[in-house]
Amino acid sequence: MVDRQRALEFVHKHRQTQFYQPVIFVPGVIEIRGKWHDATKQMAEILFKNVSGKSVLDLGCSYGFFLHEAKRRGASRLMGVDHDPVSIDIAKEVNDILDHDLKLVHSSIDEFYTDELFDIILMMNVVHILKNPQKTISRYLSHTKEKLILAHDYDFSVCDFNIIREFSSLRSAGLRQVTEISPRLVQQD
Ligand SMILES: C[S@@+](CC[C@H](N)C(=O)[O-])C[C@H]1O[C@@H](n2cnc3c(N)ncnc32)[C@H](O)[C@@H]1O
Repeated sequence: MVDRQRALEFVHKHRQTQFYQPVIFVPGVIEIRGKWHDATKQMAEILFKNVSGKSVLDLGCSYGFFLHEAKRRGASRLMGVDHDPVSIDIAKEVNDILDHDLKLVHSSIDEFYTDELFDIILMMNVVHILKNPQKTISRYLSHTKEKLILAHDYDFSVCDFNIIREFSSLRSAGLRQVTEISPRLVQQD
């Protein structure tokens, strides 16, 4: 159960901070707005229509927003990885306050090792930062049971960037686990 007192203290402590992701303790009551607050919440609605009982790994999880939204919708096993020490510390504090039992790992996506399988793996707005996206995506696809979701802000169709070819070859290889959802499809606030 959420510790409302600690949640309020957390919100007070971070009242001057611009958060990338929303932090939602009690929906509509105790929240910190994220940079693209409404669009990010809408994305969670789209992603987690049918997540009950499923396991989710979020690579580049930031403060864990998507994992908490999956948990609220009944997901069973949740793990997040982020290489930024500040983000992962905030994610751990939020998780503690929400009592959501997320496993949060401070690691780069490339160095992270798991032998577990996950129903859903998220790589949201992080693929373009990776050194070798194709290799990394392929590696994580072997840990994916249902779908690996890539989302990105970039319009790869109009920029001359190597990753266009990499995504194109993934698509033409018919990897049905790969779903690309662009936040641009969701109205920005
Ligand atoms: C643009 S933010 C996206 C956060 C979240 N996935 C979302 O869509 O709201 C990118 C996040 O990925 C993390 N990140 C970037 N490169 C990473 C890497 N190589 N390994 C682990 N985390 C990484 C950053 O610290 C940051 O929290």
